[in-house]
Amino acid sequence: MKHIYIILLVSLCLVNKVYAVNETEVRQTANYRVIPLPQEIIPIQDSPFLLEAGVTILYPSNNKKMQKNAQFLANYLQVATGKKFPIATQSNKGSVISLSLDKKHNNPEAYQIIISANGVKITASTEAGIFYGIQFLRKSLPVNANTNIILPAVEVKDYPRFSYRGALLDVGRYFFTVDEVKTFIDMMALHNMNRFHWHLTEDQGWRIEIKKYPKLTQIGSIRKETVIGRNSDIYDHRPHGGFYTQKELKEIVRYAADRHITIIPEVDFPGHMQAALASYPELGCTNGAYEVGTRWGVSDLVLCAGQEKTYQFLEDVLTEVLDIFPSEYIHIGGDECPKTEWEKCHKCQARIKEIGLQSDKLHTKEERLQSYIITRMERFLNAKGRKIIGWDEILEGGLAPNATVMYWRTWCGDKAYTEAVKQGHDVIMTPYKYMYFDHAYVSDRTNEPLCLANLNNITTDSIYNYEPVPAGFTTEEQKHFIGVQGNVWTELISTFPHVQYMSLPRFAALSEIQWTMPEKKNYHNFLYHLPQLIQIYDNEGYEYAKHLFK
Ligand code: ACM
Ligand code: ZN
Repeated sequence: MKHIYIILLVSLCLVNKVYAVNETEVRQTANYRVIPLPQEIIPIQDSPFLLEAGVTILYPSNNKKMQKNAQFLANYLQVATGKKFPIATQSNKGSVISLSLDKKHNNPEAYQIIISANGVKITASTEAGIFYGIQFLRKSLPVNANTNIILPAVEVKDYPRFSYRGALLDVGRYFFTVDEVKTFIDMMALHNMNRFHWHLTEDQGWRIEIKKYPKLTQIGSIRKETVIGRNSDIYDHRPHGGFYTQKELKEIVRYAADRHITIIPEVDFPGHMQAALASYPELGCTNGAYEVGTRWGVSDLVLCAGQEKTYQFLEDVLTEVLDIFPSEYIHIGGDECPKTEWEKCHKCQARIKEIGLQSDKLHTKEERLQSYIITRMERFLNAKGRKIIGWDEILEGGLAPNATVMYWRTWCGDKAYTEAVKQGHDVIMTPYKYMYFDHAYVSDRTNEPLCLANLNNITTDSIYNYEPVPAGFTTEEQKHFIGVQGNVWTELISTFPHVQYMSLPRFAALSEIQWTMPEKKNYHNFLYHLPQLIQIYDNEGYEYAKHLFK
């Protein structure tokens, strides 16, 4: 490993290479050591571009998204140079950075940049593509250089490998503020991610205001206390809670959209519903004394699938969710739903009989009941023009006809994604073994914050080397692997700096899996590029893990 640290040290020194041009003017040079690695950077025989005060950023008139893009770029350039850059729809003097839409790009998120003595041109077929071009420029510049910057002449041709480049934040176990969620979205944008999977409901906390069911937040968003550590049996005797109003949620949706990130909300059912049951006990099999969860693990207390009012509840909740979140995909959970209550419940058993569900050697009748509830809700969502994503348990009992499967249970082998793909379904890869960022980075946990007890540590290089499209599929089948996602589950992560520590620099490694073609990836190259990205983490005040920088 020693040589890796030397490379890191050397590259740290190179990042801010300083050129003394004359006695009064000092310039620095941008380099293109960017993460995720672009597909192609081709040197051009030309003098470099000089980024100095007064360079105008041009964007097309009557395009608000491009205006936003121009403003992002102006802000990034100001961070780098300390100077102000006007944005405008036209300019007839001086050099410009132009942002323009051009339909010649096949991939909707592709971009091209030409940097030459005359100026900088970023083109893409969508505003999202332009945004990634802007991120490329941002990450090429020295941070806080406070000088003019020289940009060597190059052409960049870039596009993402996967259309789904996700990160999950669990706010059910611990609540994170609106500003913290926005920072998480900023962290994603820095790494060219485009799907924020927001896990909003849990046994231990319901976080989304639903106007028709006010008790979900009045009661369900607060737990009376929390177990300390990994279910130690000692409790902190302090209530923990919080939720987002619909107004706040809509504001965060806009904030993410400005950064070309779609929020995929998750309302996890029929399991992981204990907070909802505490709020509306009539939704359970027993009407029993439910309370918002105070420990971690899988609860047996799930929605009763035998009564119509459960389905009405789900439709009502989802109707409000659809009003807040324009995403085509809605995540319906479907994971970790024990069937013990359903086996005992006369309402669930009557429903099983009524619709003729039977056990066979593949599935129990209760598993088929779970498939019934998911399929029924899929029909509801499909009729409203939306699609469902569910955790890989939704295969049990039969897969809903149009569902996308999120693969996570590595210990069950390759059956889930294989079955899904062979049946023509899309799959998103988020394997427990590589993509669960609540695991420790290193096997020696002496100096690590609280993390999962099992010994599956997930190093940054094991993430980097993970290949999300498994061998053994035809070219057509491979297209069903639409992307990959890192998950930040928070049972053991109660503060936002801890969220950042578990996410960074893992997001950097993940972003090269998501974006860069596999034949171009190179871990040593990645380590060589990383210090430049770390400067941005430092400048933004992001916490991050430093194992690679001993
Ligand atoms: C999960 O981690 N329960 C999807
Ligand atoms: Zn029941």
